[in-house]
Amino acid sequence: MLIKIARPSDCNPSDITPESLYLSRRAVLGASLAGIAVGALPGLAVAAETSRYADAAPGAAPGWFTDKLGATRWQAVTVKDEPITPFKDATHYNNFYEFGTDKGDPAANAGSLKTEPWSVVIDGEVAKPGRYALEDFVKPYALEERIYRLRCVEAWSMVIPWLGFSLAEVLKRVEPTSKARYLRFETLQDPKSMPGQRSSFALIDWPYVEGLRLDEAMNPLAILAVGMYGRELPNQNGAPLRLVAPWKYGFKSIKSIVRISLVAEQPQTTWESLAPTEYGFYANVNPTVDHPRWTQARERRLPSGLFSPNVRDTLMFNGYGDEVASLYSGLDLRKNY
Ligand code: MTE
Repeated sequence: MLIKIARPSDCNPSDITPESLYLSRRAVLGASLAGIAVGALPGLAVAAETSRYADAAPGAAPGWFTDKLGATRWQAVTVKDEPITPFKDATHYNNFYEFGTDKGDPAANAGSLKTEPWSVVIDGEVAKPGRYALEDFVKPYALEERIYRLRCVEAWSMVIPWLGFSLAEVLKRVEPTSKARYLRFETLQDPKSMPGQRSSFALIDWPYVEGLRLDEAMNPLAILAVGMYGRELPNQNGAPLRLVAPWKYGFKSIKSIVRISLVAEQPQTTWESLAPTEYGFYANVNPTVDHPRWTQARERRLPSGLFSPNVRDTLMFNGYGDEVASLYSGLDLRKNY
């Protein structure tokens, strides 16, 4: 089932983004040849080898992804009055410590990641555990485009058009047992292709692990993404499968997932284990709870530079309070940061 999250802020990104950035020449040409108004494009299937975003570098999508693009529901969720971050920034300013700790390292090094074949294990407290080839795992779900804010705990942010499907739909299919209270996600561990996992300076106890409470994972905003900017995920952004939970700091959105376990106890997660006074399990975006070393009241929206820092106020729950605040009623968000 496709979910439309009705929000007063919904609008078309074509209203807020220069058309040259938003639509590829090919998509515009195709539409005008067919006599379709550009504003009607959201329902249009776009050729797989080019993205509908003019600035998105073409990828080499696997067949299953290309097949799915035709039935994609474009702009199922959008943000208002905030331009989409240029593809170049979203793919060259990354955190993916498996490929290095500098922002440019993932783009430079993630080419070594082999994403085909790929399999995903679902196990733990579920009636239907299994190991799936990625194409089988994704098969039951139609792709939706979700244009979400991404807010990193380091106080920078972007607006990204993801392509993915609802995590809740996956969970319904595998049937969590009555003991399941949390999800534990795990990234691939492969030091051969991931130089950061070979580094003797790495503080992280690999693999990278993240988690959500089951009710958070069931929230309609939580998705598993397989693409962005109308194309498959670039490796540096977490190909071939990553979590996106837009009301939480970016470190919750674990990349290159190979295992999802339903568990009874709150899982030990990577950043919380490394520095529990700095990074909590919840990691909800919250302008009133500062990081011990910097304020969270404001953020730098990329692209940002010395002469146009592009600083804006941080929004509670990253602007998704209407959809998620009820998950935390009665919880002290200062203690459960
Ligand atoms: N997932 C893994 N496996 N390894 C990582 O280092 N970094 C996290 C998150 N997911 C990370 C990860 C952090 S800190 C952020 S802010 C986001 O990915 C960044 O996503 P992006 O590079 O696509 O913007």
